Amino acid sequence: MKTARIVVVGSALVDYTFFTSRFPGDGETVVGDEFLTGPGGKGSNQATAAARAGGEVVMVTKLGEDSAAGVLRRHYETEGLDRRFVYSATGVATGGAAIEVNRERGENRIIMIKGANERLTLDDIRRAAPAIAAADILLVQLEINLDAVAEAMAIAAKHGVRTVMNPAPAQPVPEGFFTGVDFFTPNETEAAFYSGLPVTNREEAVAAARRLLELGVRNVVITLGRAGALYVSESEVHPVPTPPVRAIDTTGAGDTFNGAFAVALGEGFDIVAALRFANCAAAISVTRKGTSPATPRREEIEALLRQSY
Ligand code: RIB
Repeated sequence: MKTARIVVVGSALVDYTFFTSRFPGDGETVVGDEFLTGPGGKGSNQATAAARAGGEVVMVTKLGEDSAAGVLRRHYETEGLDRRFVYSATGVATGGAAIEVNRERGENRIIMIKGANERLTLDDIRRAAPAIAAADILLVQLEINLDAVAEAMAIAAKHGVRTVMNPAPAQPVPEGFFTGVDFFTPNETEAAFYSGLPVTNREEAVAAARRLLELGVRNVVITLGRAGALYVSESEVHPVPTPPVRAIDTTGAGDTFNGAFAVALGEGFDIVAALRFANCAAAISVTRKGTSPATPRREEIEALLRQSY
């Protein structure tokens, strides 16, 4: 089996997660029942998921010079990520996220601060150009500054490297920013934001995906939570259901999906097989607490695949 070479250009944050039976209202304090802290950030979560799914992963990110940076550096070492392009910035904190998880529903809400992630420069990205050029897949999200994302995409395009863009969190982007993306992977909220269309059921999701193709992306994959994933290209529409599981924390499920999807594409899976693989990885992750630490290993994904499809 070919090992997929994945470069992730993305964020690194420390997650501070609070579990509660209900979210507080404005001006209200509720007493939660559990607190977790650990490595997170969409870039780091996706890199972790890709490595655990069997990829050889290069991480390109920027940290501060504080204790939070140590949490992430130790995590990258444990997970076997290539850390040559994990940079440090002075005078700025490592990114962080305050995450509230509603225990009853497994749902979350998040405030993230980019911190050092915002300081990734074009030179930082250009130093990683040889790694991007040698990759099977470049995987990006939008939690770092957008110029850095655009530079990484341009390097990938120059070298014919396939790209997966998870356009999260949803935000205004410059005109033409998405042109040439090979696989564009919004969730329902992001698909609605970028298409300007509602996404509350499968028909609406197909219409939104078609509108997203008009932005110049080649393939759209909308992640639909419990309903799995929807693949839409110029010529195809494929809904790919996901195995049912009991979710206790959905934070980072989309990240796990993207990391595993990139590995499957890099190994040469066809699109439906790659989406099944990614669905199984995400399904396992929601049965566990936390973000990066909740991502499953290859053998777990394969076991659920065998049972489910
Ligand atoms: O997608 C989940 C991630 O979003 C969390 O790990 C948090 O850091 C935020 O960036």
